[in-house]
Amino acid sequence: MIFAANFKTNHTRKSTEYYVQDLNKKLGAKDPEDKVYIFPPATALDNYEGDFTLGVQNAYPAVNGAYTGEIGLEQLDEFDIGTILIGHSERREHLGESQKTVSEKFSFFQEQNFEIIYCIGEPLHIREKGFEAVMQYLLAQFEGIDTGYENLIVAYEPIWAIGTGRSATVEEISSTHRALKKVIDGKPLLYGGSANPSNIKEIISIAGVDGVLVGSASLEVEKFSKMFL
Ligand code: PGA
Repeated sequence: MIFAANFKTNHTRKSTEYYVQDLNKKLGAKDPEDKVYIFPPATALDNYEGDFTLGVQNAYPAVNGAYTGEIGLEQLDEFDIGTILIGHSERREHLGESQKTVSEKFSFFQEQNFEIIYCIGEPLHIREKGFEAVMQYLLAQFEGIDTGYENLIVAYEPIWAIGTGRSATVEEISSTHRALKKVIDGKPLLYGGSANPSNIKEIISIAGVDGVLVGSASLEVEKFSKMFL
């Protein structure tokens, strides 16, 4: 199983350092087959050591250049970062990333052989229309995306379940994952959206779920580590 912590715009460089220290104390007890990832904000990237993968929440698809406010490959290479989240709904929604932007980012980081956690997810009004509408919406988020890419992990995150405390039901996760698995040729598929220590056992026991991408419940090490211990 994959347990990925997406800090979003939370934690500082200092608090991430403490987080990593505490996380390392917990990681010795995890199942060696399980993989833990952390995605701190860009200002807290560093040369951390431990049995986890450090990834970046976002980057600009360029080595370097005149892209005010962005970071590129050069800034990621400084910390040997080779894992990136692309297509998160908050970037699509609040930062206005179109499918074109997202797919260009994907292609750039694919060329750099990055491990890509590619996020997709539907808003509530689409879920309310039923399963077919959901799948149509999700499939459109694969436009321009090479689903055959070997370093691809997909995260299915229904937008209405993100940060709301209301996770999708077992049936919703199960049917959506079953359909998505066919599209992504069996690549690892994470679920994201209010995953927490109380519902994690149920979520990871669903067929077609290979792990979780966790926001709110990942911010405290105690809470996050309960999910993989
Ligand atoms: P959440 O966020 O766990 O707070 O719902 C998940 C995500 O956006 O990755």
